[in-house]
Amino acid sequence: MTNHWKVPPAVGPEDPGILEAARLIRAGGLVAFPTETVYGLGADARSTAAVEGIFEAKGRPSDNPLIVHIAQREQVDELTEGADELSRRLMDAFWPGPLTLVLPVKPGAVSPRVTAGLATVGVRMPDHPAALALIAAAGCPVAAPSANRSGRPSPTTAEHVLADLAGRIAGVVDAGPTGVGVESTVVEVAGGDVHVLRPGGVTAAQLRTVVPRVSAPHEDAADGGSPAAAAEEPDHAPKAPGMKYTHYAPQGRLTLVDGDPERTAAWIREELRRAKAAGERTGVLAFDEHLALYDADVVLSCGSRERPEEAARRLYAALRTFDEEGATFLLAEAPDSQGLGSAVLNRLIKAAGHRLVQV
Ligand code: TXA
Ligand code: MG
Repeated sequence: MTNHWKVPPAVGPEDPGILEAARLIRAGGLVAFPTETVYGLGADARSTAAVEGIFEAKGRPSDNPLIVHIAQREQVDELTEGADELSRRLMDAFWPGPLTLVLPVKPGAVSPRVTAGLATVGVRMPDHPAALALIAAAGCPVAAPSANRSGRPSPTTAEHVLADLAGRIAGVVDAGPTGVGVESTVVEVAGGDVHVLRPGGVTAAQLRTVVPRVSAPHEDAADGGSPAAAAEEPDHAPKAPGMKYTHYAPQGRLTLVDGDPERTAAWIREELRRAKAAGERTGVLAFDEHLALYDADVVLSCGSRERPEEAARRLYAALRTFDEEGATFLLAEAPDSQGLGSAVLNRLIKAAGHRLVQV
């Protein structure tokens, strides 16, 4: 019932699987596809019936707007009232890539269900051959949230998509695991400032190489960012509407641990010992540097602490694994909030329900 099209990583718009998937999108169907960040669940952004299908398949709150994916820069003019100078500079620098720009929507260009009634639309050009081929072949703007059931971690493989949505969608284009692993950065330009509404695949430091003023709460050391500050992030910062929802929470109780590496390791070892004695099924998400120190039922690596992009790539699969393994007590070493570490930290803090221990 749900098609599974395996395509080569560098697939083009003539691929038979892509052509079939594009035909289904044009017919109002729902097709999941890989992007460089996570798998998206795509539908024709102009069709209210198709877009309603996305909300239904995911169980997504209807006041959370969808990002519209494009394959060509000219589509910005079809979707929006035009992009300001700073937004255009960002497109030049980061498209195709993991950056979503919130722009004034052109009335009638997309279904009002896409924008959830806002006067703006989030637009992004993904940096993945399969995504670009599918959007080009479909010949329409493609609305696509992450292809998970609402409340589950975003999918970074076609298997994750099928675990959540098999039988509920027309198919999934499978080009293997995604590269970045966390979602795009969502930004809006206002009053000459670039506001980061959601941290993601493009870091604040990267944005600052292109535009002068970037406001990104607790992103990068340049902001004095720290895990503790991020966990206590005040709510006055502008946010993407989706940021207010309860996010994925693992079945086990997750706590983030931050501090001096040796004290962190000692604290985690002691907590694991206590939890085991209390009959918990324990899980740890740790950097390679500490992996061998922990005696838990499930020990998962997020790569070297020196390479936060590895943690980004592995995060969502790890969270799914803890649930599959039935872990009831979870600890994770907090990443440094530098580079992609900031987006990883943002997602982990949500998954932990803001439980962060400073040791
Ligand atoms: O990397 C990504 O962005 C992935 C892939 C599939 O492209 N998509 C994704 O979509 O993460 P989703 O729906 O899971 O998250 C979209 C975020 C939400 O937080 C939503 O509130 C925000 O973007 N957003 C969308 N349109 C917006 C708008 N007009 N104004 C402000 N925020 C918006
Ligand atoms: Mg999502």
